[in-house]
Amino acid sequence: MKDEVRRAAEVLRAGGLVAFPTETVYGLGADASNPAAVRRLYEVKRRPPDHPVIVHFASAHEAFEWGREIPESATKLAAKFWPGPMTLVLKRSEKAKDFITGGQDAVGVRVPSHPVAYALLVAFGGGIAAPSANRFGFVSPTTAAHVRADLGADVDLVLEGGESEVGIESTIVDLSSGPALILRPGHVRRADIEKVVPVREPTAPSIRHSGGLERHYSPRTPARLIPTHALDREISVLKDKVAVLAFSRPDERVDYWIRMPRDPADYARRLYASLRELDAAKCHEILVEAPPEEARWAAVRDRLERACARAE
Ligand code: TXA
Ligand code: MG
Repeated sequence: MKDEVRRAAEVLRAGGLVAFPTETVYGLGADASNPAAVRRLYEVKRRPPDHPVIVHFASAHEAFEWGREIPESATKLAAKFWPGPMTLVLKRSEKAKDFITGGQDAVGVRVPSHPVAYALLVAFGGGIAAPSANRFGFVSPTTAAHVRADLGADVDLVLEGGESEVGIESTIVDLSSGPALILRPGHVRRADIEKVVPVREPTAPSIRHSGGLERHYSPRTPARLIPTHALDREISVLKDKVAVLAFSRPDERVDYWIRMPRDPADYARRLYASLRELDAAKCHEILVEAPPEEARWAAVRDRLERACARAE
């Protein structure tokens, strides 16, 4: 693995793309200081150029060099949750160029906890820009095999790191304009953050972030969110072949069924692999049993709502 990591760092230095494991999902990495490398990253990702990308670092110290006027809330949150599944949006320093921030005056930074990500960041010695290693809008990868299936030869090297433990993207906390604002829910929950700093309610959307698009994280098969009480009725009127993601036991009237755990962290870990599996079953539709309306399900619910949102 050491040689692989060293090789990966060389690929990054040469302007190439390296997919690498993180505890949330696999990232598609490029040298965050190299405009040509980041341009290629956006091309492979098929991401609109005005969308900002998260920059990853080995330490909070390095991460904060890409920000300016670092508020106390940032140091507090970093001390508590880094390395880990949390991204901080900060006012940017001159290190964070327009091609990273989508032209905004803020930059998203994160210190991941996955040992392979850490080893790569240390070997590379700089910031690595990395969105999830999938094509724009579709389901994020939680294994190296998912990355290869999605991006194939478009990525120069894929580092192996097992299954991502968290399974959904980091919690994004905006600290660039006043008190903390949660832009994207994740494994680090609002209640966890509120123990450290005050969190404000969202007003009008100010900052662009692609996780904020209505349809995102979506399988190719149309998916629909169904309340628990309506699931049986939906199944009883089915005419086409469907796949179901639910908490209950498989129903023999349904062609393809995945039973999900009742713990939100376990559910999140398995979510994207399950959506991929259901997508591969080539059904007419995917029915997803809605998770409970509880705060601890907020991140999973957010991803499911987007996965099930209709394409424009
Ligand atoms: O868990 C994660 O965050 C994964 C792993 C690879 O670290 N990365 C990830 O990146 O999900 P991506 O690019 O797919 O999603 C990043 C989100 C996007 O919605 C992006 O627009 C937002 O973070 N973001 C990045 N920089 C930002 C900024 N300066 N202002 C506002 N939002 C920002
Ligand atoms: Mg993504």
